[in-house]
Amino acid sequence: MSENSPAGAIRLDGPPRDAGSDVDIYRAIRRRRMHRKFKPEPPDRAALETLAWAAGRAPMGGGQLVRRIIVVDDPNIVELIAKVTPSWLNDAPALIAICTDLEVAETKMGYLGRDIISQLDAGAAAQNVALAAVALELGTCFCRSANDVAVQAILELPDTVRPDVLIAVGHPAPTPSKPISLAPRIVYHNRWGEPWRPE
Ligand SMILES: Cc1cc2nc3c(=O)[nH]c(=O)nc-3n(C[C@H](O)[C@H](O)[C@H](O)COP(=O)(O)O)c2cc1C
Repeated sequence: MSENSPAGAIRLDGPPRDAGSDVDIYRAIRRRRMHRKFKPEPPDRAALETLAWAAGRAPMGGGQLVRRIIVVDDPNIVELIAKVTPSWLNDAPALIAICTDLEVAETKMGYLGRDIISQLDAGAAAQNVALAAVALELGTCFCRSANDVAVQAILELPDTVRPDVLIAVGHPAPTPSKPISLAPRIVYHNRWGEPWRPE
């Protein structure tokens, strides 16, 4: 890392290239769901690191280094986050917070970068984590905190770092959470209202 790298900057290698997984991308998309019931033991550090690597592989608007990833497996901190987050409707033993350095986002990309592009980046990172979790036989649940100030205090984030998505992570409980809804998706062709017709 260069002297100018932000504190904590690290290169994660991710899983070895030959670390085969029988989960192909379509299968991962099909199996991905939001889990709310987990076993109490947290995923091991190697698995959490792979998820952090997956988050870091997601695109960032303007190629700017706005994303900050915090891996949390301290049960006291997870419990505190759950307490201050009314929509934390799960019992995961670990979480990954995808955050944005607002100073960098605003300096490099203005308000669009701070308010919009960086939130899209965070969503892309979260989805990478959710899909990689399927390959690791882990479960995830996204959570958008309604109380950034409390989350900032618990994770000791600077005021200029926004927690965009909290991703609950754990081993799914034996009784699985509901699979995703198979309601029809709304897809148009070329223009609004023109239905997409499968060939
Ligand atoms: C941006 C975003 C924020 C979400 N926030 C929460 C949340 O705060 N709490 C929660 O339990 N689920 C949250 N979810 C999960 C959705 O409610 C979930 O996608 C929905 O229950 C459907 O689940 P499925 O994708 O497994 O079908 C969030 C999902 C997204 C994409």
